[in-house]
Amino acid sequence: MILEVKNLSKTYGEKQSENQALKGVSFSLNKGEILGIVGESGSGKSTLLKLISGLEAPNAGEILLKGKALTQKRTKEDYRTMQMIFQDAVASFHPRRTIAASLWESVRSLLGKDAKLDLKELSEQVGLSEELTGRRPGSLSGGQCQRFAIARAISVKPEILLCDEVTSALDVSTQAQIMELLSKICKDTGASALFVSHDLAVVSNLCDRILVMKDGLIVEEGAAAQIIQNPKEAYTKKLIESVMEI
Ligand SMILES: Nc1ncnc2c1ncn2[C@@H]1O[C@H](COP(=O)(O)OP(=O)(O)OP(=O)(O)O)[C@@H](O)[C@H]1O
Ligand SMILES: [Mg+2]
Repeated sequence: MILEVKNLSKTYGEKQSENQALKGVSFSLNKGEILGIVGESGSGKSTLLKLISGLEAPNAGEILLKGKALTQKRTKEDYRTMQMIFQDAVASFHPRRTIAASLWESVRSLLGKDAKLDLKELSEQVGLSEELTGRRPGSLSGGQCQRFAIARAISVKPEILLCDEVTSALDVSTQAQIMELLSKICKDTGASALFVSHDLAVVSNLCDRILVMKDGLIVEEGAAAQIIQNPKEAYTKKLIESVMEI
């Protein structure tokens, strides 16, 4: 087990406007496993990843990384170990810096100023030519930017990839390529992944196991094939049916 989440809760706002985004979520992630997190909009998927990555603080609960309880004060090593990839890949890069500069910045800040970075090898790993790293994010396609966002994440040799709707802004064929790439990276490097998506079809292709979230809670959990073929909860059935209609 590489990551363990225990009874995690998060409330936004105060008093009358209080919004309990997470109401006590517990699960664990095994080494090398790709765990899908699905659920309707507002169910708390992004909140969960923000708490795990340290972007936001929980109100209660515990996050254990390799057995060590994480606090809000993360070490560089914690940040290196868990790398986040976002939906809007273009916006995740500095607009006026070249991709190469952003990649260098990331490895130097997490691995130290003497860190090495092989731009050619890294570009090849994500299926792009090194030449493109000389460009700024605005002159790349969304799919190319997402590949470089994946490159930035894997450049620091993370053990967990935190992916929030990373294919949602892409067309269907690019979605499939990005999923294939993530799956290959996890296989090749032994990294685990938390893969958040509101799209059950995407998740069922990629993930070993699936968590289903509703209103800040996990309502169902199981092997991907079992969740898709034999869902127990009416809510999960509805999620699956809504995908089939498309
Ligand atoms: N910064 C914030 N301030 C107040 N409420 C927030 C904040 N971030 C999220 N919420 C609320 O918390 C709940 C869960 O939001 P979250 O973004 O985790 O949902 P989600 O499952 O990722 O949805 P989506 O599929 O639309 O991305 C929602 O009701 C949302 O409005
Ligand atoms: Mg979200």
